[in-house]
Amino acid sequence: MRQHVNPLSSNFNQIERIPSLSEMFGDSKSNLHLDIGCAAGEFLFDLALVNTRWNYLGIEIREKLVKNAKLKVFEREIKNLYFIFGNANNILNNVQSKFIFKNLKSLSFNFPDPWFKKRHYKRRVIQPEFINILSNSLQKGTFIFIKTDVKDLFDYMDYTISSNYNFKTIDKKDFNYSESFNPNKVKTNREKHAIVNQLDIFERIFIKI
Ligand SMILES: C[S@@+](CC[C@H](N)C(=O)[O-])C[C@H]1O[C@@H](n2cnc3c(N)ncnc32)[C@H](O)[C@@H]1O
Repeated sequence: MRQHVNPLSSNFNQIERIPSLSEMFGDSKSNLHLDIGCAAGEFLFDLALVNTRWNYLGIEIREKLVKNAKLKVFEREIKNLYFIFGNANNILNNVQSKFIFKNLKSLSFNFPDPWFKKRHYKRRVIQPEFINILSNSLQKGTFIFIKTDVKDLFDYMDYTISSNYNFKTIDKKDFNYSESFNPNKVKTNREKHAIVNQLDIFERIFIKI
């Protein structure tokens, strides 16, 4: 399985059809959380099975992972979980996806690829243009969660989102996790790895104002 995919490749210019919320979920009116760069989706499976009153949507650029995740959803008959294959930037910038923002209560960027070389920074999923799209599309009150074990990437993401006047930081201690998409503070795979290896984890919560 390839670990890194160049999101700027023209392979990702075409996006797959985005079904309506009622095609994706059993109850299309439930609160919706979007996880960007969800890999095989284990984090979302863990969440969806416990918090059945939330809907969970994952976007992932590695096609095989999405195919397998979709198959698992089908086999286990999970009604509050859906996966979309492709480059999240292209998907969320496409007119087909605009309806997603109406129900979206929160989105997460968990341990996105750091793309360490400066000439590859433009491959990072968080880009000023992308944050601008989110800023113009998200409803007021929508939360964005960022988390990484790479300090430089954290500073970059924090700066990029904070530079947009439509987002404000929320202090973690003032955040009511029990009402959120992740009341039990389920960890992602990368997060578990970071904890086992005693790596620092940097995180921040933003709210659209
Ligand atoms: C380091 S992994 C972290 C996976 C998971 N979020 C976690 O915390 O364990 C980053 C994931 O983001 C995906 N990814 C990178 N750029 C993306 C993009 N533009 N759109 C969608 N997925 C992307 C990668 O393929 C990879 O699966």
